[in-house]
Amino acid sequence: MGELWRRFWLPFMMSSELPAPDCPPKRVRILSEDLVAFRDTAGRVGLLGNHCPHRGASLFFGCNQEGGLRCVYHGWKYDVHGRCIEMPNEPASSTYKDKIQHKAYPCREAGGFIWAYMGPASLKPRDLPRFGFNVVPEKHRLCHKLLVYCNWLQAMEGDVDPAHVSFLHGNLAGPANLPWRERLRVGGSFGSSSNNPSVTTRNLPDATQDIAPAMFVKETDYGLAVGARRRSGADSYFWRINQFLMPGNALIPAPHGANQQCTMRIPIDDDSSWNFRVRWNDHRPLTAEELEDYTKIGINLPEVDPMTFVPVENKDNDYLIDRSRQGAVSMTGIKSISQQDRAATESMGPIYDRTQEHLCTTDAGVIALRKILLRAVRDLQQGVEPAQPANAAVYHVRAPEIKAARDVPFDQLVEEYVLDVTRL
Ligand code: FES
Ligand SMILES: [Fe+2]
Repeated sequence: MGELWRRFWLPFMMSSELPAPDCPPKRVRILSEDLVAFRDTAGRVGLLGNHCPHRGASLFFGCNQEGGLRCVYHGWKYDVHGRCIEMPNEPASSTYKDKIQHKAYPCREAGGFIWAYMGPASLKPRDLPRFGFNVVPEKHRLCHKLLVYCNWLQAMEGDVDPAHVSFLHGNLAGPANLPWRERLRVGGSFGSSSNNPSVTTRNLPDATQDIAPAMFVKETDYGLAVGARRRSGADSYFWRINQFLMPGNALIPAPHGANQQCTMRIPIDDDSSWNFRVRWNDHRPLTAEELEDYTKIGINLPEVDPMTFVPVENKDNDYLIDRSRQGAVSMTGIKSISQQDRAATESMGPIYDRTQEHLCTTDAGVIALRKILLRAVRDLQQGVEPAQPANAAVYHVRAPEIKAARDVPFDQLVEEYVLDVTRL
């Protein structure tokens, strides 16, 4: 799987973490490799191996100035391509520096993120995936990053599991003496980021009460479309269609005209992962109200430690679960939607033993995800490269939330609302 990951451009940090030329370098760990990222005097980003090729001091302590990162131990200096450009502890006549090529991965910037390509040079994809947020102006988007204490796939499986929103993200409304089932209202993942129940139920009380959705899965050029179909009125269905995009990305459904949401999972190593999230609008800047909603209220983009990106609500404090709210106003008593997800997926442990599972009908997306990943890995072992890296355009799709007549088939909805991005 690690080899497969190395065929794709991967976001590994937010551009804002290297805010200016010659700013301090940052440690990076992805795909079990310890690296150091820096932005040189010309603004270019380099991603180098952590250990200086001389005798291994960490380049994290390096001095970043005048077009390169200088190891503080004996002064060897590297450019963004990993070339040793100075070796000041050697005689001036020495050409030894020309023999030193440090590990360096090519980097690009788009969408508020810095992306690296860590695979064979001959297979480097020409373009970054054409996600909507990669092509909008900066003010149209909001980027976020958090540390997840489990394997990336375990977290990813929640992104193709639309049934859990009825429970994990459920709000409870109405008199406390009513049965739980009647008080349940699906929470923020039904299109809005707000935790305000009057917003999140979005006048679809019948759909939000259908807690056992019918599942539909379709394999696509980019990965999977996973549809959850809920009853809504006498003659229509309410659909949410999640997208999985190789190798670790998902689009979370949003209604017509609403801001889009993408979640990208990148392995740090087998036991932990980065979750990069973006909220964006294709047509206009995000409003002050939306930014407030996403960040201050702490629902979609929870508050994190700015150095470590560990969320304030985390496994060591039981995600600040408030038992007085649990069962009264929400299912979990955990404030942010994102951390409700973490409580579920991190509590499985770093890598859950899948032989202990009992999968059911609403796990159709999880099953399909595992199948296409395993197939892609086996194909690669046979020398068959994944198709997506060379097809950046296939990433330009939507995750719709739609009400449709009951006789409209899933495939037609995918054609009209997922693949035809002019519709939303
Ligand atoms: S260890 Fe880096 S210059 Fe010596
Ligand atoms: Fe969730």
